[in-house]
Amino acid sequence: MKYEVPARVREGAATPIHDLDRYREHYANAVNDPDGFWLSETKSRIAWKTSPTQGLVGGFDEVKEGPLSWFGDGTLNITESCLDRHAKSTPEKIAILWEGDEPGDVRTYTYDELLAAVSRAANALSELGVKKGERVIIYMGMVPEAAIAMLACARVGAIHSVVFGGFSAEALRDRVRDCGAELIITQDVGRRGGRDIPLKAVTDEACVGASSVKKVLVYRRTGDEIPWVDGRDVWWHEALEQSSDIHEAVEVDAEHPLFILYTSGSTGRPKGVVHTSGGYITYASYTHATVFDLRPDDVYACMADVGWITGHSYIVYGPLANGATTLMFESTPLYPDAGRYWDMVERHKITIFYTAPTAIRALAAKGDEHVTGKDLSSLRVLGTVGEPINPEAWVWYHEVVGGGRCNIVDTWWQTETGGIALSPIAPATPTKPGSATLPMPGIQPSLRTPEGAIIRGPGQGLLCIDHPWPGQARTVWGDHDRFVSTYFSHVPGAYFTGDGCRRDADGYHWITGRVDDVLNVSGHRMGTAEFEAALITVEAVAEAAIVGYPHPIKGQGVYAYIVSQPGESINEASLQAACREQIGAHARIDSFQVVTGLPKTRSGKVMRRILRKIAEGRGDELGDVSTLADPSVVDAIKDGFKV
Ligand code: WTA
Repeated sequence: MKYEVPARVREGAATPIHDLDRYREHYANAVNDPDGFWLSETKSRIAWKTSPTQGLVGGFDEVKEGPLSWFGDGTLNITESCLDRHAKSTPEKIAILWEGDEPGDVRTYTYDELLAAVSRAANALSELGVKKGERVIIYMGMVPEAAIAMLACARVGAIHSVVFGGFSAEALRDRVRDCGAELIITQDVGRRGGRDIPLKAVTDEACVGASSVKKVLVYRRTGDEIPWVDGRDVWWHEALEQSSDIHEAVEVDAEHPLFILYTSGSTGRPKGVVHTSGGYITYASYTHATVFDLRPDDVYACMADVGWITGHSYIVYGPLANGATTLMFESTPLYPDAGRYWDMVERHKITIFYTAPTAIRALAAKGDEHVTGKDLSSLRVLGTVGEPINPEAWVWYHEVVGGGRCNIVDTWWQTETGGIALSPIAPATPTKPGSATLPMPGIQPSLRTPEGAIIRGPGQGLLCIDHPWPGQARTVWGDHDRFVSTYFSHVPGAYFTGDGCRRDADGYHWITGRVDDVLNVSGHRMGTAEFEAALITVEAVAEAAIVGYPHPIKGQGVYAYIVSQPGESINEASLQAACREQIGAHARIDSFQVVTGLPKTRSGKVMRRILRKIAEGRGDELGDVSTLADPSVVDAIKDGFKV
């Protein structure tokens, strides 16, 4: 089933890609002359201090030798693209429209005000001794000050690393240590869904054993009493009050790191994915303007959290570079009830709305009565991101929310890609429920066999990208070898995404999910290895293996197989507590099973394929298990299976 683009979405497009012919033309230009294509985009979109003449230097074949570069001879400060020029041309336009946890609790920053606030914060950071190239951890909820903190870091040339406010003290400490941050910016208490999140208290705990931290800057959100360390802790409002609202942006090279964002992989600890300045901002700006067909009067609302890449690229950097009005939302789709999103659409006349399939499924399950009766006529483009969307949820979004009058952009991308890589372009691309459709200009996807051979035409395989693009991650912080081995060793000369994908006869892409040991639970990316490491901290646990299984709302659920220590019994509360303490509140086990042993090869490797099948309820399709060291454990696991 194909959905044509509704006329009201097609007409009056701001992007030059307003139909499929134009798309093919732009796509071909980007393939034939990547340097020319991106140099022209960056010059028209970004305020450079020294305009670049170089496009790409290096490539996937040479990534072993060091990071590739885009626009390498240019210099800039990305905040001038996001703030100063809009403060001149549209000073009164609302840049950030914030809605707090309680419905109708609204604050706004115009571009003029945002520039002043970021300048104050930048001066405050300099006053605290933050210098170009130093790392700053931002551990906050969804308050405008989180965006201001990010921009202030960028303004002084410091490298920020935002840590999602749900992460535990352990996880926060790991990240602080890995990047050697000297400053943490946090807030007293976070608010979400009517609940308090003790951000400052968790920060204090994380600082024990994180000796690099010299200062903690604390934004006052709720005014609750909080612990205070004299000499280390500084109030945000006091530091900003004493600072000038004029700040000369620090000039950096195009390849100066803008931020580090930690993300989960197949193995080991989360890795610090590094994004740099000129290429990243160009790609965030280009994709945001193009995919959503951003128009001057749009009210753009992305429901993600700034702790994830979507919040970086499509709440803060892309929209602000494009001079948009971007909404920041502190709460959850279910607070105070399942009509919250749609009340906000009506209240703020939102035109572009971007959320995750999990939220759509959860809201659809609550019934249409929370949607119907709300005035959603302002909506034009609906977006999804983070996980595959099932056709039922897609159709509900299209019909019940969009009234059939909007186009849906199912955007596939990753922390590593920096911005949207496969997606419909709102006014141009007919859609199919569940398909991320076509590659963005500049993205050259390929489907591969496990041996790396290219699959042409319709087919299914491993998704790779064959040519560099400006928004891609450059390295892993402090570990370029890990960057190379994770992404460039599977298929020499191509970037390996970790996702499986099917391509149909129209060339449309259908993501089938991760092919590695990464879980995607409610759109949150988590590593099985992280869960397993957390679980074996429980004394009664001898061994643990984690797999994902299909979950009707969360997309994937977390299934744990646990082998207990001899004579010990396992209680669920201790397992959940370990995950909460080691990872965070968002890391929960959905189902677990105590087993006598795990299926292992003779060399001791856990056969997850078998565990995955059993958790999926397909235990009768295991095939040959005779290569296992002890095939009898499989029957025992199957007998005890209980989802
Ligand atoms: C998955 C989030 C299907 C995918 C931006 C990818 C998707 C991982 C989609 C990256 C989509 C993201 N359809 N799957 N539209 N978007 N994914 O790094 O498995 O948090 O590899 O970035 O999410 O998650 P990450």
